[in-house]
Amino acid sequence: MGQVSRLLLVIGGGIAAYKCLELIRRGRERGLAFRCVMTAAAGQFVTPLSVASLAGDKVYGELFSLTDEAEMGHIRLSREADLVVVAPATADLMAKMAGGLADDLASTLLLATDKPVLIAPAMNPMMWNHAATRRNVERLRADGIRFVGPNPGDMACGEVGAGRMAEPAEILAAIEGLLAGGDRPLRGRRALMTSGPTREAIDPVRYLTNHSSGKQGHAIAAALAAAGAEVTLVTGPVDLADPPGVRAVRVESALDMRRACEAALPVDVAVFAAAVADWRPDGVALQKIKKGHDAAPVLQLVENPDILREVANHPTARPRLVVGFAAETEHVEAHARAKLARKGCDWILANDVGPGTGTFGGDSNRLLLIRRDGQAEAWPQTSKAEAARRLVAEIARELAHG
Ligand SMILES: Cc1cc2nc3c(=O)[nH]c(=O)nc-3n(C[C@H](O)[C@H](O)[C@H](O)COP(=O)(O)O)c2cc1C
Repeated sequence: MGQVSRLLLVIGGGIAAYKCLELIRRGRERGLAFRCVMTAAAGQFVTPLSVASLAGDKVYGELFSLTDEAEMGHIRLSREADLVVVAPATADLMAKMAGGLADDLASTLLLATDKPVLIAPAMNPMMWNHAATRRNVERLRADGIRFVGPNPGDMACGEVGAGRMAEPAEILAAIEGLLAGGDRPLRGRRALMTSGPTREAIDPVRYLTNHSSGKQGHAIAAALAAAGAEVTLVTGPVDLADPPGVRAVRVESALDMRRACEAALPVDVAVFAAAVADWRPDGVALQKIKKGHDAAPVLQLVENPDILREVANHPTARPRLVVGFAAETEHVEAHARAKLARKGCDWILANDVGPGTGTFGGDSNRLLLIRRDGQAEAWPQTSKAEAARRLVAEIARELAHG
């Protein structure tokens, strides 16, 4: 591995904390250097003395400690590592991470770090399957946090189910994979992602738009970035935070979006999830159109540029892989196949946005991937974050072998 890799190990307050002692011992045998932080609860399960003896370094625990802040400081602590590992990641620590809380040293440094974070959850199966933990897991995955485990099996509490912390050897394998860049298959690749709706002005106060929330597009941008790609996210107006690690370009209209996409080229892969308005009013009134005594104004519409088709047929900078989305309300597969042929893209992801599907604005999606050679794969209904990860895995495979 060349230079020694430095790990910041955060030990949470769970029964599985004892396994950390073996993790540290085996990790050091493999040439890893550990700096350890324990939560107050962790101290109920293993002693700081055992951890410090095995790590060969002092153990940190206090946020408001004069000596710790003078010697190291919580920000420096969070940055002076190649990787941050949380093991065991308690339900409580995961909730704090998902919510951005920072009320002790462990949670503060997890919020302050700029390094990749790997967590090894460990908890009772009921806690792992609780709706709150499910939400936190999704949130953390979308934020780019890596997971190892938990595994199914017998629990220390006597129950059986998912929630057992991964074994030290598995955690070490995940650590070494991350340090080697193994889970970043899109490293060195450039990606363009569009997301959200567009707004087409009628006058200074009114516009035409659609129901796109941007949730699926933003989830894909986050997954592309987590896989190591350099991502430009061109987004219409949405009520979402920029995903971590992407360059977000905010636009309003289809014409703005086209300009921003053109400026982002060249890229290796472009994914078009934005619901670009097909039409815009022919000319924007300079002043607010007043309600008069005559009949209502008639809107004359003109067609917007077809950004997907333009990029898929770009004369000089066509990305290696161009992926479109087809949002349909009926004959989903037939319309999507026709769109794939018409636009000249490589893949199309069809989704049903008909009334009652909950796709627009919802947190889950059921996608059908159709490739240029006609092969189709129906994916099960999953969260949009999970669908994004699956798509990014397909993209990585395609770019590696295609
Ligand atoms: C005996 C015992 C075992 C526990 N084991 C776990 C566990 O495995 N996972 C977990 O999430 N919480 C477990 N807890 C609860 C946590 O210790 C508790 O939520 C604590 O506040 C976590 O603090 P921390 O997240 O700052 O480490 C356990 C509590 C007790 C008393």
